Amino acid sequence: MAVSSYNDVLTSVQAEIENAASGHEAMTRALAELKKQMASYTWAGIYLLEGRELVLGAFFGKPSPHTRIPLDRGICGAAASTGATIIVDDVNADPRYLACSIETQSEIVVPIMHGTKVLGEIDIDSDQKAAFTAADRDLLEAIARLLAAKLVP
Ligand code: SME
Repeated sequence: MAVSSYNDVLTSVQAEIENAASGHEAMTRALAELKKQMASYTWAGIYLLEGRELVLGAFFGKPSPHTRIPLDRGICGAAASTGATIIVDDVNADPRYLACSIETQSEIVVPIMHGTKVLGEIDIDSDQKAAFTAADRDLLEAIARLLAAKLVP
């Protein structure tokens, strides 16, 4: 996808987040916009950190068995523990991976930070191998910053 298209997606997701009446509505509207615009994103969810567990707050795609993930489990737990984005080009080659669907081939997890504190994360799966590039990372990190601003008034 062209860089200009990524900018267009960010602009439309930003409008959804800014027009939302609550943090939860912002998460739902951001995901709905990504579902509409990003064909390679097969499953997407936003987890919020509650104590030492990540709790699934909103998602699109098939229901996941992983609605609560401890910080020491999965790619989700690894990203939240380090506060850094993780891209996995081939989930079947990553021993940390917790399977959600047998069709999933690659994954990106982007922490939602407030300063150095992890509020939660955006988790996206794709049915294509190596679906996530630096442009996806930049887009999702920008969305994570917008969500953080909405989640911490
Ligand atoms: N794959 C994630 C678990 C969440 S499901 O993909 C929805 C992980 O390894 O942490």
